[in-house]
Amino acid sequence: MASLSQITLPGAPSSEFGLLRRRFDRQIKTRIGFNGRVASVLTNAGEKAVVSVKSSVSQNVIEEEAKVLVGTYARAPVVISYGKGCKLFDAEGKEYLDCASGIAVNALGHGDPDWLQAVNEQAAALAHVSNLYYTIPQIELAKRLVASSFADRVFFCNSGTEANEAAIKFSRKFQRFTHPEDKDVATSFIAFTNSFHGRTMGALALTSKEQYRTPFEPIMPGVTFVEYGNIQAATELISSGKVAAVFVEPIQGEGGIYSATKEFLQSLRSACDASGSLLVFDEIQCGLGRSGKLWAYEAFGVTPDILTVAKPLAGGLPIGAVLVTEKVAGAISYGDHGSTFAGSPLVCSAAIAVLDKVSKPSFLSSVASKGRYFKEMLVKKLGGNTHVKEVRGEGLIIGVELDVPASSLVDACRESGLLILTAGKGNVVRIVPPLIISEEEIERAVEIISHNLTALD
Ligand SMILES: Cc1ncc(COP(=O)(O)O)c(C=O)c1O
Repeated sequence: MASLSQITLPGAPSSEFGLLRRRFDRQIKTRIGFNGRVASVLTNAGEKAVVSVKSSVSQNVIEEEAKVLVGTYARAPVVISYGKGCKLFDAEGKEYLDCASGIAVNALGHGDPDWLQAVNEQAAALAHVSNLYYTIPQIELAKRLVASSFADRVFFCNSGTEANEAAIKFSRKFQRFTHPEDKDVATSFIAFTNSFHGRTMGALALTSKEQYRTPFEPIMPGVTFVEYGNIQAATELISSGKVAAVFVEPIQGEGGIYSATKEFLQSLRSACDASGSLLVFDEIQCGLGRSGKLWAYEAFGVTPDILTVAKPLAGGLPIGAVLVTEKVAGAISYGDHGSTFAGSPLVCSAAIAVLDKVSKPSFLSSVASKGRYFKEMLVKKLGGNTHVKEVRGEGLIIGVELDVPASSLVDACRESGLLILTAGKGNVVRIVPPLIISEEEIERAVEIISHNLTALD
């Protein structure tokens, strides 16, 4: 009879096994409810019996989820329990290569030692005190963000949608502040087709997919959607003088991995300058190194008035940040906006660890070259398939457009141990791996995708 400690879970290196086993064990006891039957099998049964019991762990979690959580997520039937680098392990110990990064979040992969140290040390010292007081990590992180970008000042919040919500408020306040006598001050917004800016009422109003918005109407009024890339339509609308701000993703993520052109972003900049509208870049998915530049805007030779960043900034802890010029910050007064949790010492210490690594020129150039290699490999191995229309993207935000829904391929890849995402109208495979992914892992990912292409037939 083998005890659990004698069984090597697939893919888990022996040095990690003890930790994996402890976490696995703890989850069985705390997350799905410990009972004597499971415990006795785990400690006394042979390998085969343990595996069959472990299979029921995921099944049990999935069943429990359906009873206690609001049904907002159509999840893949996988219970992830442990991660290291670009590898994830489910509750049965099956290994997955992570090319989803928790939706473009885990830039340093899972369990980065510097990130862990920063989080552990800060958690032991001070996790939260609110913004009623000063804390050093928040100021240090803001200094780094300012030093590495166009911005003069930073506002912290807790997520991407919150960052855009703050950008909406700052834009309206800026227009009121700069036109105090104007009774018909600019309050409307422009967003673009295929845009995704978040799920709260303001950010949702800027999000193009109608099915996300209509069940919740009335949402924030005054948003016009213009075709992404249509310079003439955008310029005409901006010149009306009624537009508080233009929200644009330099590279669209959820919408299907579409990059703006230089000409498009430059014309938005000129039109905003001429009319007094603010230009807001949403870099929540494409920013912070993912494009191969620290900020995606760097490739376009244009700077915004406001930039929103979130997902990868704290390496997996919830954070959002709004980067602004002095001109915008000057319109904001005490009490205009705030958040209890935002910019906590814990989250900011984690973010400092991420930013210090990601902003290194050698790290950024490795993202750019790995992104090129990934795309080359995808073109080489997938290019001949009739369902594959295009491979596109910058750095490690990559889209493979298909002529059919991508979900069957994404599901088949998951079965084969690779996590990837969909985007666009469901016909785009979205690949957003941790930025630390190796060339060997890229080759393996492409191999798995290529091997599973038959799922599309
Ligand atoms: C470009 C963009 N903006 C905003 C958001 C919303 O971020 P969050 O889910 O953290 O609210 C997302 C999330 O996918 C995004 O991709």
